[in-house]
Amino acid sequence: MLLDSGHKATLLEGEELAQQQKDFHGYKEGLLRLNPGRWLYTARFTKFANKIYNFKWKTGDVVVMTFPKCGTTWTQEIIWTMRNNVNFDHPLAMEPAMDRAPFLDCDMFLPEEIAPDSPFMAECPSFQRLCRGADPKDGVYLQIAAAIPEPRTIKTHLPFSLFHPSLLDTAKVVYVVRNPKDVFFSYLHHSRLLVDHGFVGSMKDFMKYFINGDLVYGAYDEHVKEAWERRDHPNLHLLFYEDLKANTLKELRKLSDFIGTELTDDELKKIAEYTSFDQMKARDNDKLKDFYNHDIWKKDGGFFRKGQKWWLEEKPSRGRHC
Ligand code: A3P
Repeated sequence: MLLDSGHKATLLEGEELAQQQKDFHGYKEGLLRLNPGRWLYTARFTKFANKIYNFKWKTGDVVVMTFPKCGTTWTQEIIWTMRNNVNFDHPLAMEPAMDRAPFLDCDMFLPEEIAPDSPFMAECPSFQRLCRGADPKDGVYLQIAAAIPEPRTIKTHLPFSLFHPSLLDTAKVVYVVRNPKDVFFSYLHHSRLLVDHGFVGSMKDFMKYFINGDLVYGAYDEHVKEAWERRDHPNLHLLFYEDLKANTLKELRKLSDFIGTELTDDELKKIAEYTSFDQMKARDNDKLKDFYNHDIWKKDGGFFRKGQKWWLEEKPSRGRHC
């Protein structure tokens, strides 16, 4: 199947699919590969790919684009707060970040049949509020993203090549990069924690998938390369997780200048505190808790795990992980 982006989609089959489904119990509905790029997604991605490629961007949109586990949620929260909640009194501030700054490509992880009265939809306040009468099967998060009031902040884990080239000429993109070793540990935890990935293999197995670009969302270096190639575009801001952690105020100032919020140093300082790891962990409104593996949650923690460098990780015992 040829997509509007020019990518050819091919379903994974045979031994390759069998191996993935042995290690990832969540990929029951299959996987597909997109070329060029060797991008890997769930089989349902083709249902939404052209709608995402042709998404109607507006001037004023800010897209938070990342490979998974690079600090997306942190950046979403900072940008949404800068644009909507400077006084920390917004009535929707406690809604999950992925509803306020919708996760555009999330629909490929949702079940094929989402009944409008299912428990998932009951916990999707923004769909209820903004997409009245819409059919969830046409994309829950896709439709939320189209319907949220301006200024819109939208999250994606897809790379540039899966978007229409006009994206950067219309919207602003904040692309977050993180040390690959930290991305590795964070994605390993995430893939064990979330049952829609359901990773049951060893750390060594996961390392092979990560290095070969065989994890859902493909190869981290390819993803970053596509952003790096566009680094001189005035509508692209590259943000490094480590810089944000080491010098938060300086990075918040650059972000504010880029998205044009014109905040004072005092306001930025308060936003830095409000979006610190400890405060976000205390508010913990990760809506994916319903999809957590409770054993992993108890043993290794939830979404707000560590937010620190890989060498501060506990040394894994060889017996347990490898
Ligand atoms: P760890 O798993 O290393 O702890 P994403 O939002 O892209 O999925 O990234 C998740 C990672 O960002 C997790 O890393 C999480 O702990 C970390 N994170 C989330 N909020 C953060 C914050 N306010 N400050 C620092 N790190 C944060």
